[in-house]
Formats: sequence, structure tokens, C-alpha cells
Amino acid sequence: MLVLGVETSCDETSAGVVKDGREILSNVILSQEIHEKYGGVVPELASRIHITELVDIIDMALGRAGVRLDDLDGLAVTYGPGLVGCLLVGISFVKSVHQSTGIPFYGANHLEGHIFSNLLEQSEIKTPHITLVASGGHSNLYFVEEWGKYKLLGSTRDDAPGEAFDKISNLLGLGYPGGPAIEKESIGGNRDFINFPRAMKDRDNYEFSFSGLKTAVALYLKDKPPDFINDHLADIAASFQEAVCEILVIKTLNAAEAYDISQVSITGGVARNLRLRGLFEERKPANLEIFIPGPDLCSDNGAMVAACGSFHLQKGERSNLSLNAVPYLEL
Ligand code: KG4
Ligand code: ZN
Repeated sequence: MLVLGVETSCDETSAGVVKDGREILSNVILSQEIHEKYGGVVPELASRIHITELVDIIDMALGRAGVRLDDLDGLAVTYGPGLVGCLLVGISFVKSVHQSTGIPFYGANHLEGHIFSNLLEQSEIKTPHITLVASGGHSNLYFVEEWGKYKLLGSTRDDAPGEAFDKISNLLGLGYPGGPAIEKESIGGNRDFINFPRAMKDRDNYEFSFSGLKTAVALYLKDKPPDFINDHLADIAASFQEAVCEILVIKTLNAAEAYDISQVSITGGVARNLRLRGLFEERKPANLEIFIPGPDLCSDNGAMVAACGSFHLQKGERSNLSLNAVPYLEL
């Protein structure tokens, strides 16, 4: 089964072709760089770039996969959560391809797409397992009972971890996107330089909160002379990064223990962070396996949408022309 996945929910314009729900034939990702100069995603610009670039990106995805449109058995497109104007570009495109070719299509939940990215590289991951989706908009911990069946154990009460990285990066003058910028600045920094707060560390609580941490960093910076901040930029970045990573690790490992689970996966843009990956390896019990997809599969991409769509299309599930964007779609 050959499925083309289209992802335009935020600032990545992406398309990928996946065979039998597992094998990536292509995964073309355009990360829109224009937002860097605004310090965050400008929705209007993001949707306009999706419009101008999507056709070429899809052409490239088909070309690299060595397939033509009529070879496809299905189409999949993210219909939420995300920025409404951005989602509508992908949805309209896929609907029109469906209308002109008759190829069936499926509207995929972006969060489920992130969970399916695990299957693309790590076929050993089984169900049940615990998965953490840590991104610019989410911090969701799920018990994956079986593929397609998820129990949300907890999510963030305020900011998402990626959002915290982006905001603190702005405060430190390190630019957007903040995750990679802070990770780079942290190299060689002292993680114990400042003990920033880790919110709601108690067991059996799988909710996250990152806004207090953000305020703590802002207050810390407020009364420090610019020279001191400059001299200790790496230490401040490393201490902040440690606080975010530690809380993600603690809660995920607590959930794995409580549910007596032997496999855990982490996906979403924040899962690209090497300290997060390292900390999971340091803290995990010996009998627990940690799965984290490669960097391109952690960030938003078309292949994960294709993998998710393949699963549902295979079961006979279809969307129709009434599919609309759902910005706050839940899973
Ligand atoms: O999953 P994603 O590509 O898009 C959303 O669905 O939100 O995640 C984007 C987020 C951004 O906030 C970005 O700063 C963060 O992932 N991110 C990182 C890293 N790379 C991207 N956070 C921490 N460390 C990284 N290396
Ligand atoms: Zn995402």
C-alpha cells in the first residue's frame, strides 16, 4: 500500500511517501525560515508559503519515491491540531487531488501522526507502550494500548516545552526556533549553575507546567547585569534545558513504572534534543527500552502523516469532502 502524507499544520511544508505503513520512500521537509526574523511563527506568512511551496514539495516527494500520482493507494493529510489557515492549505490540496483522481484520503490527527513516526524506524516497538509527544504546542503523555487506541495520561496546564524553549531563547537573545538555539548554547555550560524549578514532580501526576519555569528564568535575568548574563549564557541555557528535560524524563519514567510498561517512546520536535535523549538513557531502569525517532521524524513531517493515514485507510476508514480544519483537535 502506497500512501502520500501531507503536513502543513504549522511552519513545516512537508510531504512523504510511505509503503505499507512502515517504509519511508521519501520525506521532503521545508522548514520555513522566514519566521526566524519575527521570533516565532507568523500564521499568515506560514499559510502563504504552504500555498506557494506545497505543489513542488509533493512533486519532489513523488519523484524521490519513484512513484506517480496514479500509483498511490491513498492520501493522508493533517486536519488538526494546528494553525487553521495552514491546515486548510493541505486539506484543500488533498481534497482536490482526491476529487480529480478518485484516490481515497484520510484526515489525520497530527498528534497521532507523531506517535506513528515511531513505526517508521523502530519496528520493534510494540503495544502497549507509553509515549510522550513533546513539541511546540504539546506535552502529552499517552498510554498506547494498541495502535489507534490511546489514553491521555496528562498534558500541559499552560505552555508546551517547545514553546518554553522558544520563549526563553528569545529572552536570552538566541533567536528562533529556540530549541536548537538553546541546545547549541548549552554545550559546555554548567547544568547545575541555577536550580530552576521543576513543577509538579509528585508521582501519579502526569500533568506538566512550564510557565512557572519561564517566569523563574525571566526573574533570574531581570536583576543580573548584562555582562554577567553574557559571561554565563551557556550556564543559564544549560540550567534551563536541564529543568525542562528532567521533568519530561521523570514524568515519563513514572508513567512507565506505574503502568508496568517495558517500552517508552518520545516524539515531537523537542525529542530532537540530545540532552533529553541522554537523560532518558541515564535515568531509565535497565529493563526499559527507550525509542526516539531520528531528528527529521521528530519534527513535523509528511511521512508520519502517511504512516498514520496508512493504518486507518487499511482499516477502511475514509474522509470525505466535508473534512475541515480543527485547530484544537485532541487525541
Ligand atoms: O513537533 P514540532 O516540529 O512542531 C509542533 O508540532 O509544534 O516541534 C517544534 C518545537 C519548537 O518549539 C522547537 O523549538 C522545538 O520543537 N525543538 C527543540 C529542538 N528542536 C526543535 N526543542 C529542544 N531541543 C531541540 N533540539
Ligand atoms: Zn508536531
